[in-house]
Amino acid sequence: KIEPIKNMNQEERLKYMLTILKGQLSSEKDDLANISNATGIIIACVDRLNWAGFYILRDDELVLGPFQGLPACNRIEIGKGVCGTAVKTKEVQLVRDVHLFPGHIACDSVSNSELVIPIIKNNIVYGVLDLDSPEKGRFTELEKKYFIKFVDILNEYIDWNNI
Ligand code: SME
Repeated sequence: KIEPIKNMNQEERLKYMLTILKGQLSSEKDDLANISNATGIIIACVDRLNWAGFYILRDDELVLGPFQGLPACNRIEIGKGVCGTAVKTKEVQLVRDVHLFPGHIACDSVSNSELVIPIIKNNIVYGVLDLDSPEKGRFTELEKKYFIKFVDILNEYIDWNNI
């Protein structure tokens, strides 16, 4: 974990995460390097996660992108699972218990809750940011708000066509 976060509360950590993200994005121009480190920044600042990463939309299918965690499904169809649903509905999916989510794709059997933010820039869907936790009900509305901001900041810097 990054040292300064030790004494921070949840909201302070989330704000700090966005500050580090902006630092990364403004100091490196390579989009792949930037989204790779974005997953590392999440893991460094947010606890109780077993997986954090990107799925990128390629030819009407989600394909695995940079991530931290165990090996995961390579491809997800639009409309399938939590990630595919986020793309289809263009809405954030905050799922308290993935086992109750119809069509949930169990990549890692440890995952019990999930937060998926669709990546939408200029009305085009480019993929999703997916966070998984072993704890049921792990994700809060506060985190949802900050991860929407996280993707907004990515969108300011990243040309997703380069990924
Ligand atoms: N559980 C996800 C699949 C991706 S993994 O969790 C990394 C889903 O249902 O979309």
